[in-house]
Amino acid sequence: MNNLSYARIVGTGSFSPKKILTNKDLEKIVDTSDEWITERSGIKQRHILSENEVLGDMVYDAAVNAIDAAAIDRSQIDLIIVASATNEYSFPSAACILQNRLGIKNIPAFDINAGCTGFIYQLNIANQYIQNGSAKCVLLVAAEALSKVTDWTDRGTCVLFGDGAGAAVLVADTKPGIRSVTIGADGSYKDLLYAKDAMYVEKKDALVHMAGSEVFKVAVKKLGEIANHSLEINNLPIEKLDWLIPHQANMRIIQATAKRINLPMERVIVTIQDQGNTSASSVPLALDTAIRDGRIKRGQTLLMEAFGAGFTWGSALVDY
Ligand code: ACO
Repeated sequence: MNNLSYARIVGTGSFSPKKILTNKDLEKIVDTSDEWITERSGIKQRHILSENEVLGDMVYDAAVNAIDAAAIDRSQIDLIIVASATNEYSFPSAACILQNRLGIKNIPAFDINAGCTGFIYQLNIANQYIQNGSAKCVLLVAAEALSKVTDWTDRGTCVLFGDGAGAAVLVADTKPGIRSVTIGADGSYKDLLYAKDAMYVEKKDALVHMAGSEVFKVAVKKLGEIANHSLEINNLPIEKLDWLIPHQANMRIIQATAKRINLPMERVIVTIQDQGNTSASSVPLALDTAIRDGRIKRGQTLLMEAFGAGFTWGSALVDY
């Protein structure tokens, strides 16, 4: 290991589209109610891109936000990774599009797709680049334009999703930083949550398909397991954990995970009521929200976890 062997988050950013869709708005589109959505998911509203906005706009705004917060010069960034399943291009990657918009050249830039677990996968990759000395300043952006692949006639899914982006700048440092990032996947669950590529199928089949209650059961079990795993491998008693920043998929899943690790809800960051499920961007969006509103402070210990299409899952224990 080199001297600068820890990856530390020095700045975060986020972006939510201006347009808001409330539960009341959805009552006019599908057979649902504000009461059902609130009770079953905890969601009250979600942000939605307007017709002329694309994923790349959110990626850029969140990135600039994070770079400003990190107080670094763009020329210091030596790796860009974007996590998304809803880029407006099949190629080039959203990361290359962002690199160009930021006016940076020659550094590596690539995308990953790990469903809702995108940001935890990004932390894992960035951590390894920094630990082995291949990068010193990494820009991560997780963004989703889920409204573009939502079936607005399916009440089982359209009430859940929103658009948004979250970003973080990580630098090499002599102290943590990231203490651990554990990731995993099981592709045998692929048919429970998917959207096929519009290149190969009719438009309807290229929209989100989800077997909600089956996903729910596996998510609750897996998230409890991985959250406990991160605490155990770091020998961290729950009293020493300041915040859980969970994937914002469903309020009941968030509460179940907090219960599994014996953490009171007062130490859980919840943004689902305002954002809905923004997939890969949900964890960094919640992280940035809580940093900016003053709940998360420097020196605190954070546990981030997510679960999503694949299935994929992951959890990261981080000293902020
Ligand atoms: N409004 C009113 N009624 C509805 C709605 C709606 N929007 N949607 C479904 N219902 C009805 C169903 O038709 C069903 O009616 P029935 O009993 O007459 O058949 C009833 O409500 C119950 O439906 P369930 O699907 O069993 O409801 P559940 O309590 O499981 O909640 C939900 C559904 C909110 C989708 C939940 O299952 C969930 O959150 N699942 C997990 C989502 C998730 O974590 N995804 C992972 C990441 S997402 C990603 O990777 C992109």
